[in-house]
Amino acid sequence: MAIERLVEPTLAESNAEEERMEVSLRPTAFGEYIGQEHLKNNMKLAIDAVKKRADGSTLDHVLLYGPPGLGKTTMAGVIAHELGASLRVTSGPAIERAGDLASILTNLKDGDVLFIDEIHRLRRAVEEVLYSAMEDYKLDIVIGKGPAARSVRLDLPHFTVIGATTRTGSLAGPLRDRFGIIHRLEYYKEPEIEQIIARTAGILSTEIEPEALKLLATRSRLTPRIANRLFKRVRDYADVNGDGIVDVKIARAALSMMEIDYLGLDPADRNMLRLMWENYGDRPVGLTTIAALTGDEATTIEDFYEPYLLQLGLLARTPKGRVVTEKGRKHLQNPENVL
Ligand SMILES: Nc1ncnc2c1ncn2[C@@H]1O[C@H](COP(=O)(O)OP(=O)(O)OP(=O)(O)O)[C@@H](O)[C@H]1O
Ligand SMILES: [Mg+2]
Repeated sequence: MAIERLVEPTLAESNAEEERMEVSLRPTAFGEYIGQEHLKNNMKLAIDAVKKRADGSTLDHVLLYGPPGLGKTTMAGVIAHELGASLRVTSGPAIERAGDLASILTNLKDGDVLFIDEIHRLRRAVEEVLYSAMEDYKLDIVIGKGPAARSVRLDLPHFTVIGATTRTGSLAGPLRDRFGIIHRLEYYKEPEIEQIIARTAGILSTEIEPEALKLLATRSRLTPRIANRLFKRVRDYADVNGDGIVDVKIARAALSMMEIDYLGLDPADRNMLRLMWENYGDRPVGLTTIAALTGDEATTIEDFYEPYLLQLGLLARTPKGRVVTEKGRKHLQNPENVL
């Protein structure tokens, strides 16, 4: 079932327009990166220390994890910018063979930052090459085949890996151990989301009234990507049905047209909760069963639907599966809640 979800926190691969928008809205320096204070403070300290030493030492490898759309890729860009380093971007699935990684690594320069998105999807053989590269900046490669084959060790430039993943659980222990800085991105606070929307409105030269800002912030799943996406849709609505100014009436009408309820849930979220409740009540349901009920992949549910529903306490995780909580049931059964 491939419905396009407005509140889907991932970036649709086919959505070139959204990607362009994200690039133009992406903060480049710590000063513009709103929220995640703990992460920012830690990174600032680590970066200042590297700069102060000025002995050619590089920033420890950094692993960023957390739900999609919270600003991992953005943070990688900010770190490189603050270091004054160049950023090289790749992703786990894009590196097909160990040789691909070898060529990326040998083309880096001292101090460069290599961003590896979806690092949990690296292939085993590639991961093994990465171990020694990260640990002691050496590349072990085998030249030739059969009995004539020999292994050589090449020196690599001193670089920093920034890895991003939505799931640390599936990262191999030895790989995880090679990151000196490991950080989880948290959901944002509502006032931070308001600031992010206000910033976006400024960049897109759209006027938004404070009450509308507040309303949108409560519907954005505490996630910057969704905040920006909703804002853009509401702005379109204001252009078509009003004078372009986003006030609370316009915002409310646009949200209700998109069927996003007051907690930021969309029809797919509510559908999942409803199916679970109708079929299993307050008993735990296994992930694969939920997937069968909704027609989604189990990983989609685990990575995209579930984190926010757990965060809100509408869903709980037990050793036997997921359960709809009392709060979840109430949300479903009170028609006033829904839109
Ligand atoms: N702290 C922030 N301040 C302002 N805008 C932000 C912040 N974090 C993210 N954004 C906005 O949200 C968008 C999505 O962020 P980003 O692409 O960095 O998320 P991500 O965690 O890498 O997601 P994914 O897991 O899907 O790769 C960015 O384009 C940016 O405009
Ligand atoms: Mg990303």
